[in-house]
Amino acid sequence: MASGGGGHESLRRMIQKLPFSFDGIDGDLRRLGVLLQEVFQLAGVRFAERLAVLNLACGRADETGVLAAAVAPAEIGFYLGMDLRSDAITEAKRRWELPGGEIDFREGNAAMIGRMEGLPRFDVVFIRHQNYWHEPMVWEGIMDEALVALKDGGYLVCTSYFDLEHELLAASMRERGATLLANLRNHTSRALPDAEGKSVDRWVAVWGQAL
Ligand SMILES: C[S@@+](CC[C@H](N)C(=O)[O-])C[C@H]1O[C@@H](n2cnc3c(N)ncnc32)[C@H](O)[C@@H]1O
Repeated sequence: MASGGGGHESLRRMIQKLPFSFDGIDGDLRRLGVLLQEVFQLAGVRFAERLAVLNLACGRADETGVLAAAVAPAEIGFYLGMDLRSDAITEAKRRWELPGGEIDFREGNAAMIGRMEGLPRFDVVFIRHQNYWHEPMVWEGIMDEALVALKDGGYLVCTSYFDLEHELLAASMRERGATLLANLRNHTSRALPDAEGKSVDRWVAVWGQAL
């Protein structure tokens, strides 16, 4: 499991070099790790070999280690995180290392990922705490790109902070014809003290591409 106690712990070869920045992150990530394993099992997803994983709107990408652990027995061969916030990207770069693989964090617009040269298609596109409610048009663009970035047979995995936002995302994915493989409410999710009805990784869902 991810550790805040000084890092240097291998999660399927993903190395955490810095502790997390805030109290409580360790616990949130432990719960997220369990949740991801549950939702992959429910979706009938089993990963194999070396994966390319894209973490869109990743912020600090604190979940990088548990994501690597959740795709076992597969390993991540290429991992890319992207966010608009340069401070968060700088912090993510300092925290994570992938010996024997390629890892990169880029400051950039997730809705433009298709225009970036030299990127492979991805086995998994992950979006933690998607922000559909906040900026629906922006997130329409991000979700378009997320689906296009997938390999054939790849999976899109998203978590949400609150029920309505998750429903908006699910409706948008239905309109795109994406196949919902599993949708799970996290009953151990930590409530956000200043936002009623919101909690950390409250929902998670896995989609396959449109049939
Ligand atoms: C709710 S935060 C989630 C951050 C992180 N995934 C987490 O769970 O801690 C939403 C993130 O989306 C990012 N974001 C919003 N629009 C974006 C865009 N067009 N391209 C890349 N990142 C974007 C924000 O900078 C912010 O970090």
